Amino acid sequence: MDLRDVQTNWNRFGETDPFWAVLAWPGMEDGRWDPDAFFATGREEIEAVLAYVDSLGVSIARDAALDFGCGVGRLTQALAPHFARVHGVDISETMIDIARKFNQYDQRCQYHLNPRDDLSLFDDGVFDFIYSNITLQHMPPRFSRGYIREFLRVLKPGGLAIFQIPSRPRNMTQRLLQPLKPTSFWRWYQKIRYGDQPVMNMYGITKADVIRLIAENRGELVDVRPDDNADAAWDSFRYAVLKPAAST
Ligand SMILES: C[S@@+](CC[C@H](N)C(=O)[O-])C[C@H]1O[C@@H](n2cnc3c(N)ncnc32)[C@H](O)[C@@H]1O
Repeated sequence: MDLRDVQTNWNRFGETDPFWAVLAWPGMEDGRWDPDAFFATGREEIEAVLAYVDSLGVSIARDAALDFGCGVGRLTQALAPHFARVHGVDISETMIDIARKFNQYDQRCQYHLNPRDDLSLFDDGVFDFIYSNITLQHMPPRFSRGYIREFLRVLKPGGLAIFQIPSRPRNMTQRLLQPLKPTSFWRWYQKIRYGDQPVMNMYGITKADVIRLIAENRGELVDVRPDDNADAAWDSFRYAVLKPAAST
């Protein structure tokens, strides 16, 4: 399973049922999401996230924000009124096309298609705030690890990243199956089982590993707490990570 497979899968979701692929709420499949209701969930989420940032006692500048794995821009649009510039990044061109159609903030909000396993489209130290929700869970850990490293590179000193990633499946059988999932055998199995239909693959990194990764990349873990945004079959966490002001 490489990034091209991840991209193909999400392009298919973007073609078939993009809003439901982003928020798979019961009863909202087959195009039943009303766009206003859908984007309202983003505003509600971002209000709660910014209140959470305040509750941490962390003060962030409101210049540039990044929404990593922006999908159709549900959270990017909601971040835009709070920052001078917002960038949404996604691997799927079909998702990015829709995000651009729903953009209400002109140049202040920019969407980028990024098929790469890094964020080299951005220089070091450009973002005050990075948010990523229900995205890192959909790629093999070797990629999510790389993006977490990149978050710390593209943050400004004093900037904050908040991201969600599952730790491990609650069920033992699922845990045992996890190592198979990034393999070509698993891809072949899914092809036989689902044909060309897109599949919502789930992956995680244990909490201990994420904490180690943050420390290795000189991030300061401000908070970590259980999170219920992932599939209910997984333990998941939300991490708040500061790039210390003295770091370069
Ligand atoms: C469930 S959607 C969530 C979208 C958005 N975060 C939200 O909550 O509204 C997951 C998104 O992650 C994107 N994605 C998956 N792998 C990615 C990668 N390697 N780089 C960037 N985006 C990725 C998918 O294309 C999809 O749009």
